[in-house]
Amino acid sequence: MTFFWSSWITLFSFGCWLFILGVLLFVLKYKPDVEEDGTTGHEYDGIREYDKPLPKWWLVIFFGSIVWGVAYWVFFPAMFPAHWEGIATVEVDGETVPWTSKNELFSELESNNKIFTDNFEQSILVKADAAGATATLGTLNDLQATMRRSETPPADLQTQIDGKIAELAPYIEKLSENPNALKVGSRLFLQNCSVCHGSNAKGATGYPNLTDNDWLYGGEAQNILTTLHNGRVGGMPAWRDQIGEDGVRAASEYVLSLSSNNGSKSNGKLDQTLVAQGSAIFQQNCALCHDKDGKGMISAGAPNLTDTIWLYGGERETVRNTLRYGRAGVMPQWETKLGNERIMLLAAYIYSLSDKPAKATQALPVTATAPKAAAPAAATVN
Ligand code: HEC
Ligand code: HEC
Repeated sequence: MTFFWSSWITLFSFGCWLFILGVLLFVLKYKPDVEEDGTTGHEYDGIREYDKPLPKWWLVIFFGSIVWGVAYWVFFPAMFPAHWEGIATVEVDGETVPWTSKNELFSELESNNKIFTDNFEQSILVKADAAGATATLGTLNDLQATMRRSETPPADLQTQIDGKIAELAPYIEKLSENPNALKVGSRLFLQNCSVCHGSNAKGATGYPNLTDNDWLYGGEAQNILTTLHNGRVGGMPAWRDQIGEDGVRAASEYVLSLSSNNGSKSNGKLDQTLVAQGSAIFQQNCALCHDKDGKGMISAGAPNLTDTIWLYGGERETVRNTLRYGRAGVMPQWETKLGNERIMLLAAYIYSLSDKPAKATQALPVTATAPKAAAPAAATVN
C-alpha cells in the first residue's frame, strides 16, 4: 500500500475512534434534570422521555467492538503497515512469516499443493510403478527451497538440482504409459501450454509441434524435463550486418536447397550460383550451430534445416527474414509456476505424444519408402 493510502486509512480510523470516544464521554457527563415522576419532562407526541441507562446488550456490543478493533490492530498490519507488521503469522515454505494477504495466499496455495502432491504420490506414482521417484522429488524440493532462500547460492547447487531432475527421467517413461497420469497431464497441458502450442500440441509458426519426432532441444524424457524446468530461448543471430544482403540471399538459397522442400513450387527454381556461394557462407558461419550437414544440434537448439519441418516457415522471403533479423523463440520456465510434480505429468504427456514409431526406425537406413520418418529422427542423434 502506498504511504498516502495507509495514512488516509490510519487517520480516518483514528478520527472515527476519537469521535465516538468524545460522544461517549459527553453522554456520560451529561446529567439532565429529572422530575419526580422519573421523566425529563420532555414529551413528543405523547411519548415521554425517561433518563434510563443504555441497555446492557447494546453496551456489550459497543465496548466489544472497540476491543475488537484494538485487537485487530495489534494482530494485523492494519495501520502504517511499514511500521507495524502485527503479531499474526503464517507458515510459508516451512518458515513462520508475518501475516500479509500475500503470505496468506502463498500459505493456502502451499497447503492445496500438498494435497495435490500427496495425491500424486499415492494414486499416480505408486500405481505407475514409479514410487521410487518420491525420494528424489523430496530431495529436489529441498534443494530448490535452499536455492530460493539463499541470496548467493553455492556454486554446485544448480548442478545438484540438474542431477536430481535427470534422475527423474526414467520415471517419466513409466508415467507416459499410465492412463491416469496422461489424463492429468493433458489437462495441465490445456491449461498452461495450449495458448502457444495449440490444444492438439501441433504448434504454430514460431511454436514447435510437440507431436512429431523433430526436436529443437531433444525428445528424450530428460531433454523434455530440462526444457520444462528451465525454459529455453532460441538463439539464431541476425546476419544482415555480418554477411550483407547478398550474403543473406545466398545463404537462404543454400538453406532452401538443403531442405527436401526445395522442389516446392512456391519457392520456384533455385539459383544454383547463389546456392554455391551460400554453401561456403554456411560452412563458415552456420555450421557451428546447425552442423556441417545442416541437420541441426540439440545442444544449440538449432533446428534441422534439411527436413520439411519449419519453425518459422520455408518460403524464400521468410527464410531471408530469419537470416536478416535473427530469431529468438521463448519457451517460459515452469519450475516456479507449476512445481516438480506437475512438470513430471506434463513431461510424461509430451513424451507420450511424440512420434514413437518414427523413433523405432531411427536405426534403419534411410529408404525411399520412409524418408520422412528417418530424416527428422536423425536430429535426435546429433
Ligand atoms: C508463451 C508461449 C509458450 C507457452 C505458454 C509454452 N511454450 Fe513451450 N515453447 C514455446 C516456444 C516459443 C518454444 C520454442 C523455443 C525456441 O524457439 O527455441 C517452445 C518449446 C517447447 C519444447 C521444446 C520443443 C523442442 O522441439 O525441443 C517443449 C517440450 C515445450 N515447449 C513444452 C511446453 C509445455 C509442456 C508447456 C506448458 C507447460 C509449454 N511448452 C508452454 C512457447 C511456449
Ligand atoms: C549461434 C548458433 C546459430 C548460428 C551461428 C546460426 N543459427 Fe540458425 N538458428 C539457430 C537457432 C537456435 C535457431 C532456432 C531459433 C528459435 O528457436 O527461435 C535457428 C533457426 C534458423 C532457421 C529457421 C529454421 C526454421 O525452421 O524456421 C534458419 C533458416 C537458420 N537458422 C539458418 C541459419 C543460417 C543460414 C545461418 C548462417 C548464416 C545460421 N542459421 C546460423 C542457431 C544458429
